[in-house]
Amino acid sequence: MKTIGILTSGGDAPGMNAAVRATVTAAHNAGMTVFGINRGYAGMMNNDYIELTPAYVADLINRGGTVLFSARSKEFCTEEGMAKAIANCRARGIEGVVVIGGDGSFRGARDLSERGLPCVAVPATIDNDIACSDYTLGYDTCLNTIVDMVDKIRDTSVSHDRVMFVEVMGRDAGWLALNSAIASGATAVLLPEFEWDFERDVLAAIKREQEHGKRYFIIIVSEGCTATKDAENKMSVDELAKRTQAATGIESRGGILGHIQRGGTPTVRDRLFAAQMGDYAVKLLKNSTGNRVVALKCDELVDYNIFEALKMSKSIDKKLYTLVNG
Ligand code: F6P
Repeated sequence: MKTIGILTSGGDAPGMNAAVRATVTAAHNAGMTVFGINRGYAGMMNNDYIELTPAYVADLINRGGTVLFSARSKEFCTEEGMAKAIANCRARGIEGVVVIGGDGSFRGARDLSERGLPCVAVPATIDNDIACSDYTLGYDTCLNTIVDMVDKIRDTSVSHDRVMFVEVMGRDAGWLALNSAIASGATAVLLPEFEWDFERDVLAAIKREQEHGKRYFIIIVSEGCTATKDAENKMSVDELAKRTQAATGIESRGGILGHIQRGGTPTVRDRLFAAQMGDYAVKLLKNSTGNRVVALKCDELVDYNIFEALKMSKSIDKKLYTLVNG
């Protein structure tokens, strides 16, 4: 391949820019031209392309978000939409595309590959919920942001002898909640992957620590367990706090960390994997290999067929969960 495209899609994640930089650098070193496609698949259809040079990407390694922007497009999911996107790529001589994003983005990459435009996907989402890969770009930065914020919440929680419920992101996956709970020494964690019970996982956990003399309590709640995800029987963090205060007499508060978790400068870990994954993706396209996902498996970079990758599943280790909830 002589000319490739690159796009970011889905929720932005710290490390996306570092992956763009790595891809452009590796492609130029291999004598390829690279077009950045703005706003994901929507930009692919709407002719929103920009040529990327090593100079253009030189200052991206430490920047959060994505300079290529991100968008969701219903039109792209239609045959006409995909045909338009492929025709636009062909008009620029684009023979393959690096797609940086989560599993929704991977489905688009698979569909384009099946229609003759080879794509290589790079996993990037703060949720760490890409089944084929042990790691997704953005996860480490987000985790560090959460732990930093929980440390700050701890200061006020200790000062007032309070229970604090902290809702963290993750969509339907509890990786961020679980690992931030372990890293911040939380009293309990509520995850969508494991059934939880208010009496057992909240009240009894508080009581257990109270008996050891503790007077403040931090409980991490994955967003997949709360009412913000619109299921009727789920409780918001405010509701959890009210019920806890009523049952224990300890002042309780709920807080949602929100989109601050998605921003910020990527950690070293995210930069290192971005550098390696971008380079790996270019090597695949250079050999005209498409319909692949770059993944980290047991500390090694590997690649999978996208179709197969989308059928895989990964689960949270119960041993880690019991480190917090017993
Ligand atoms: O997938 C990343 C993520 O931040 C999830 O953790 C969260 O549920 C979702 O995106 C939020 O999406 P939006 O920014 O569209 O509200």
